[in-house]
Amino acid sequence: MLLSLKKVTRRFSGVVAVDRVELEVGEGEFVCFLGPSGCGKTTLLRLIAGLETLDEGAIELRGRDLGMLPARKRNFGVVFQSYSLFPNLTVARNIAYGLECRKLPRAEIAARTGEMLELVHLSEHASKHPHELSGGMQQRVALARALAPQPEVLLLDEPLSALDAKVREALRGEIRELQKRLGITTIMVTHDQDEAMEMADRIVVMNRGRIDQVGSADELYWRPATRFVGEFIGRLNVLDGAPWQGRLDGEAAGAGEVLAIRPEHVRIVDDGGGGEPVFEGIVRRTAFLGNMTRILVETEGNALEIEVHGARKRLAQGELLRFELPRARLSRLGAASR
Ligand SMILES: Nc1ncnc2c1ncn2[C@@H]1O[C@H](COP(=O)(O)OP(=O)(O)O)[C@@H](O)[C@H]1O
Ligand SMILES: [Mg+2]
Repeated sequence: MLLSLKKVTRRFSGVVAVDRVELEVGEGEFVCFLGPSGCGKTTLLRLIAGLETLDEGAIELRGRDLGMLPARKRNFGVVFQSYSLFPNLTVARNIAYGLECRKLPRAEIAARTGEMLELVHLSEHASKHPHELSGGMQQRVALARALAPQPEVLLLDEPLSALDAKVREALRGEIRELQKRLGITTIMVTHDQDEAMEMADRIVVMNRGRIDQVGSADELYWRPATRFVGEFIGRLNVLDGAPWQGRLDGEAAGAGEVLAIRPEHVRIVDDGGGGEPVFEGIVRRTAFLGNMTRILVETEGNALEIEVHGARKRLAQGELLRFELPRARLSRLGAASR
């Protein structure tokens, strides 16, 4: 393992921001820390960077404890949400900054800066200042600056969240490609599940300072370990209301568990049905989203979301809808993995 986190803990005046986190990151991996605001993503990233001190636990790089190593000696590249470029320096000087700090020979600095400019497609903007560039370009400069000293690990804290949707999507692909080409081990913090699912080899889902689950996008979507993960990755109907109880025979959830189903797995019964218990509900709302329609159905006061792909006759508000919750599609989720 390249990076090992062992019972990593950080408290702030009573708040446990990061709580006994255990994680291994392999060489060349792209890992995302995903979770809602305040769950401890930034603190964990800063602990790895050495910008924050551990209260307990250890962080190791190739088996070597990083505890006593200050941030500037870790050779980790860091990019934050705000571009934090030097406004008075040109693009080239910004990129060269880390190399100048390391007192590399002039010629080497120039060559490496040129390489980096090319890598992020900004060669013709080398002598501009940050304010002359768009947000997306500035973030590419920040990326080039972080990569220039050939860091061991690249750490990105919500690098795309200040950008508008189009630029954000384009940069997702660009960062991912760059990462693969360089083979650089990367950890990116995000609160955006789509971003994490599109970019990461492995996603670390964080919930109140702890890790709920680690897995590929597939694993998290199809086999969420907890209700929190199920609800955070994609959309999920939790079947804990009266209409579902007792009707889903033999599928009763164990203590502390809930039954759940994804909206796209609810089967609308137009004819005879698939031989499963049939439920009835009233259509409360429909939203046409192009590639699918999302239907909100109410059954005895309980709301259920259904997603239908492809063409289908329009449903009117107040219409009665019959549907099945196929057994094979139900999942049983624990409240927490701890
Ligand atoms: N420097 C700090 N001082 C006090 N509390 C902090 C500090 N940094 C983070 N926290 C708290 O730690 C928790 C996790 O914060 P953070 O790591 O920023 O979460 P995220 O990046 O997931 O939004 C929050 O409750 C936050 O208020
Ligand atoms: Mg944060």
